[in-house]
Amino acid sequence: MNKLIIAIDGLASTGKSTQAKRLAKTLNYIYVDSGAMYRAVTLFGLKQQPEGRLDLGVLTQSLDQIKIHFEGGAEAQQTFLNGENVTSALRDPKINEYVSEVAALEAVRSFLGEQQKRMGTDKGVVMDGRDIGTVIFPQADCKFFLTASAEVRAQRRHQEQLEAGHEESFEEVFANVVARDQQDSSRTVAPLEKAHDAVEIDVSEMTLDEVFDLLYVTVLKKLKS
Ligand code: CDP
Repeated sequence: MNKLIIAIDGLASTGKSTQAKRLAKTLNYIYVDSGAMYRAVTLFGLKQQPEGRLDLGVLTQSLDQIKIHFEGGAEAQQTFLNGENVTSALRDPKINEYVSEVAALEAVRSFLGEQQKRMGTDKGVVMDGRDIGTVIFPQADCKFFLTASAEVRAQRRHQEQLEAGHEESFEEVFANVVARDQQDSSRTVAPLEKAHDAVEIDVSEMTLDEVFDLLYVTVLKKLKS
């Protein structure tokens, strides 16, 4: 059977990664969490400076010192930064605070974008992010764009953060989700926007299973066409 490239983009905390992982597992495809790569670069930048400051100039000059790789398959994927498993550290509120600033840098986007494009050379990949259907794989076979109300997204992320042991108030999570959307949509390089040929899904009132079924039916149609 021919293999596809599947791009899942959308607003912060719409469940893109959850859906992308399940699709990749079901299809036996590679899963790539492009957001984790931006988060890993942000973590590297914060570790470079004392007291968790961030110097974007120094970070931009040091990109060749950053090696990111994934292990563990679609379902239990772990992210490694220079050999260290940073999966849990990437969800730290401090990363949420700075990641959009880092992701707006052209040098960072081309550094990670090249790696992401290489991961799609053999097809059979599900990648989630902000610019996958627009910039990384404009030729993707299936493109989805997930949205939901800010309240629903912040509620889900707040719950996830608490379960992961990151203490944050609902108000803080809400403010961060809205701020990141705003920053990601207004940057000049590869802004967050729906590709003209992406299927847009508002997941506010849908269960995870309902969203998955919709994505999967669309993918199956493509595979049969
Ligand atoms: O999971 P969540 O939606 O909160 O975010 P993420 O997918 O982990 O992405 C974190 C941040 O990385 C986003 O807010 C963007 O600033 C940036 N990002 C990006 O610019 N381009 C991508 N393809 C993926 C993420």
